[in-house]
Amino acid sequence: MDIEKTLFSAALDAAGNSYSPYSKFRVGAAILCDDGSVVTGANVENRSFGLTICAERSALVAAVSAGKRAFKALAIATPDATYPVSPCGACRQVLSEFFPPETPVQFGNSRESQVRCTIADLFPYDSLHELAH
Ligand code: THU
Repeated sequence: MDIEKTLFSAALDAAGNSYSPYSKFRVGAAILCDDGSVVTGANVENRSFGLTICAERSALVAAVSAGKRAFKALAIATPDATYPVSPCGACRQVLSEFFPPETPVQFGNSRESQVRCTIADLFPYDSLHELAH
């Protein structure tokens, strides 16, 4: 299986771990790290709704917490949607901290219905990376 398919399958599997009793909307994310490993995450909701953590941030925080710093691709699976659902604004900002603009992203509700784009497409006019130096 090619890496894109493998990554989307990992995101779909991760959606199975979603804790989403309020929205009943499962999301999974899978990150390909530059060492070849794949780190996944799912959305984790809270009864104080604003504290919900999206799958994309779950995966990224898990990867960074495991010591990963360089990433090559991202897949997001929303199996409960009828169309491909893209990352929320907060996740786009957080992803931009670690993912180079040209990083390929795929998001979709199924293997057959997917959008392919880049981090730059999701988060144009990015700035202020020099603050990290
Ligand atoms: N959600 C994600 O995890 N990622 C997205 O890209 C879209 C939204 C979650 C948040 C909440 O648990 C549920 O999906 C409905 O918004």
